[in-house]
Amino acid sequence: MTVVVTGGAGFIGSNFVLNWLSQNEECVVNLDKLTYAGNRESLAEVHTDERYTFVRADIGDISAVSALLDKYQPRALINFAAESHVDRSIDSPADFVETNVVGTFRLLETTRLFWQSLPADRKAEFRFLHISTDEVYGSLDASASAFRETNQYQPNSPYAASKAASDHFVRAYYHTYGLPVLTTNCSNNYGPYQFPEKLIPLCIYNAINGRPLPVYGDGQQVRDWLYVRDHCSAIMHVLQQGVVGETYNIGGQCEMTNLEVLKLLCAILDELAPRSDGRGYADQITFVKDRPGHDRRYAVDTSKIEMALDWKPEETFESGLRKTVQWYLQNQIWVANVVSGEYQGWVGKQYG
Ligand code: NAD
Ligand code: DAU
Repeated sequence: MTVVVTGGAGFIGSNFVLNWLSQNEECVVNLDKLTYAGNRESLAEVHTDERYTFVRADIGDISAVSALLDKYQPRALINFAAESHVDRSIDSPADFVETNVVGTFRLLETTRLFWQSLPADRKAEFRFLHISTDEVYGSLDASASAFRETNQYQPNSPYAASKAASDHFVRAYYHTYGLPVLTTNCSNNYGPYQFPEKLIPLCIYNAINGRPLPVYGDGQQVRDWLYVRDHCSAIMHVLQQGVVGETYNIGGQCEMTNLEVLKLLCAILDELAPRSDGRGYADQITFVKDRPGHDRRYAVDTSKIEMALDWKPEETFESGLRKTVQWYLQNQIWVANVVSGEYQGWVGKQYG
């Protein structure tokens, strides 16, 4: 038995592949284009594992994906591949339309043709699991109820709009062709192997390198945070027990303002890697111009996945953040390799 993972060289995908291979015997084929966000080093510990295969390809490349499906005959495909950074989607939205919308559409179409050629028993077992985001639901007022699966889609950034479009295509392939799809909409992840353009790894990297910790606007925007391995366990639950055609919200029930996140991060860093001048890392917090169209608050109602699939996160934000800081302190070579290339150009453009 084999599953195909797309985008498995990225942050969540690599954690998922490592998690998968540590928990069961089934083979994984990782299809990844290796954009700036893809890094094979994140999977170094499984490079020689005979259950693991890496294929460099674009999800939108119909002949490459079709050949891969024919060769490996997977029982499921889990689609992590995407352009994922909101600020980059504001800077250059075309890449997001190309991969997240057109790429997902082509991946669905290629998968549909493969799936339709399967014998009845394998057709019934097959799953296309699409990994999406809570950002498709838009922004909440302070007193509004958390996002439920039935909320209207109201995407506000080019990234969110592209993910919303991909979710709609996934839904349409179920209703029109009967492709057995599942969709998950998760909140903000953090943990090992996250590219240091996102708030938490960016600020760990900046803190220990004596740089400013940039807070957009007033820092009172609220996000719901989930440790990445808890997201991976939720995806496993959905793959194994999710009802075809359904969507599942995933989150940590951990709403925090960005400023609260950074204060806790600084406190953990003060303990684990104190500054040589005796001052606290919070001194490096710096308010910078806000993100255009910055969503004020996300919150996720996870009662459906908890009740239907018996899933719950294991980490608290404090325990997950501590593990994350420890990982980045112990893996500075991984970080140094990641920030040595295109990263410098992005940081210069974004933060001046
Ligand atoms: P990431 O940017 O770290 O990784 C994306 C991966 O996809 C990279 O390895 C990249 O090389 C690959 N990729 C990009 N375009 C591709 C293409 N056209 N063909 C094949 N591979 C391609 O992203 P992430 O943070 O790991 O997010 C993974 C998925 O989870 C995305 O779909 C994202 O929308 C979703 N998600 C992310 C979060 C989060 O907090 N990071 C939360 C909820 C949902
Ligand atoms: O909600 C799920 C989404 O979470 C995922 O779908 C996205 O792929 C993922 O990137 C993440 O999006 P965010 O925009 O919320 O994540 P980011 O880490 O970029 O920002 C988190 C918050 O911190 C957000 O309110 C913007 C703010 N921020 C971010 C950066 C990079 C800052 O204040 N300063 C910064 O330098």
